[in-house]
Amino acid sequence: MPENLIVPRHIGIIMDGNGRWAKNRGLPRTAGHIQGAKTFKKCVGYCRDMGVECVTFYAFSTENWKRPKAEVDAIMKLFSQYLDDAMKMTEEDAKFVFLGDPEPLSDELKKKIRIVTDASAENKGIVCCIAINYGGRDDIVHAVRSIMNDNISADEVDEALISERLYTKNLPEVDLIIRPSGEQRLSNFLIWQAAYAEYVFMDVLWPDFGKSDLEEAVAEYSRRNRRFGGI
Ligand code: FPP
Repeated sequence: MPENLIVPRHIGIIMDGNGRWAKNRGLPRTAGHIQGAKTFKKCVGYCRDMGVECVTFYAFSTENWKRPKAEVDAIMKLFSQYLDDAMKMTEEDAKFVFLGDPEPLSDELKKKIRIVTDASAENKGIVCCIAINYGGRDDIVHAVRSIMNDNISADEVDEALISERLYTKNLPEVDLIIRPSGEQRLSNFLIWQAAYAEYVFMDVLWPDFGKSDLEEAVAEYSRRNRRFGGI
């Protein structure tokens, strides 16, 4: 690893470009997601080796249901297979956290999510968060509903309270958001949490994203001067 890197505590990654990766090879889009899932698994290891405390991957957004059913099913299948792997990994140090509304997911997925979450809850290693049926706006709506359901008065509502009611409660602040594939948008990912994050946009397509790309993004982050609204 290059010297003088400031390692972010929490990195958010938008895994974009799977479809284009497949198209470039004349393959179906699902082939891109299969490769993207492999990259995701390797990336957790790169983050762990680098000393990152927490990494959040955007796997499926609240808007992704608009995709063809076959593609949605393929992504859910990959996610289900990963949960099977994760169940075998709960003896290891990683803690798994799932962000988003699980309600529309299948009963089988909901059950696997609960098992993996509970079995890894006390683990002290890297926190691997998977945002699935996640939307930043939905995250805020969900937080507001939970505050209102508790009959909390308006003058008690502050930023800290809202943060505590988001799916990311108890996670460190997001320091760095990486989006590969050349797009320069947040696409409803961690919109509250990323208020002071640094953004690094890269041209590499997600399935091709490697250790050197992560190091490049962290090097860029290290060069930025974070002032948090100060001078
Ligand atoms: C965006 O690329 C990618 C997705 C919407 C799905 C990401 C899913 C995975 C990487 C696999 C499943 C996840 C886990 C956690 C095992 P795109 O399809 O929008 O690419 P494009 O912009 O090139 O079309």
